[in-house]
Amino acid sequence: MRKIVIINSKGGSGKTTISVNLAAALAARGERTALLDLDPQGSSIRWLKQRPTELPCITGIAGFRSDSNLTRSFQLAPPADTTALVLDTPAGLDRRGLEAATRGADAILMPVMSSDIDIHAATHCIADLLLGSKTESRAKRVGIIANRVKPNTRGGKRLKRFLENFDIPVVATLRDSVNYTRSAETGQGLVDLPLWQAQKDLWAWDGIMDWLNALQQSPSKPAKKPLRVGVGGAVRLAFSRSSSHS
Ligand SMILES: Nc1ncnc2c1ncn2[C@@H]1O[C@H](COP(=O)(O)OP(=O)(O)OP(=O)(O)O)[C@@H](O)[C@H]1O
Ligand SMILES: [Mg+2]
Repeated sequence: MRKIVIINSKGGSGKTTISVNLAAALAARGERTALLDLDPQGSSIRWLKQRPTELPCITGIAGFRSDSNLTRSFQLAPPADTTALVLDTPAGLDRRGLEAATRGADAILMPVMSSDIDIHAATHCIADLLLGSKTESRAKRVGIIANRVKPNTRGGKRLKRFLENFDIPVVATLRDSVNYTRSAETGQGLVDLPLWQAQKDLWAWDGIMDWLNALQQSPSKPAKKPLRVGVGGAVRLAFSRSSSHS
């Protein structure tokens, strides 16, 4: 079973949107998919409750709910035949929270939006995620998703410049699209919409799925090692690596 965790300490960056769309895309490809919602807001579980029964099945796990009769690990366990587990995480996770949520992850996806506030928050989240001990194996599994990007806008260019500071792959750029809001209202992912409606947005999802599959096929890629970290207005991380995700 591969475990894919969606993180960003900043609220509203697109974690739930990406979690539910990823779960839908994996289910559509025949994966036995589980969606673990760790956010007390329960948005992913709410989305799943609206999901039409004729669409590919996704198992929901309300990780935020605590049942005193069950052990925590039993409560969070996906069905035994699960092949893909997607974790939607809450905003506001600190370094320890990020460490706990991403433990054992095969892939970590981080949506980043293009405002100054989002970029600043993302910088700290990336630093929290990658700095400190036991980070090497995690670093090579991180991919950024540039979210709600309007092409040729100042925000889009600022985000592009920011992301160039990192040797972390930008696995996709998602358009700001009503398809995400509309599909979410009915428990669907983009992949469940008619092709004519979703095609423009689905290109980006091919990139995400390709990156995940490449990671799955070569899990022992050399880790990137943090070389330099400056703290200040612009925190820059640089990583050495001998091969890149593609
Ligand atoms: N690419 C997109 N295009 C259009 N709307 C989007 C896109 N991504 C996210 N949204 C919208 O932005 C809002 C916030 O997204 P979402 O709930 O996924 O963020 P989040 O990171 O899960 O938030 P929180 O931290 O509160 O859990 C939602 O209304 C969602 O529909
Ligand atoms: Mg959310």
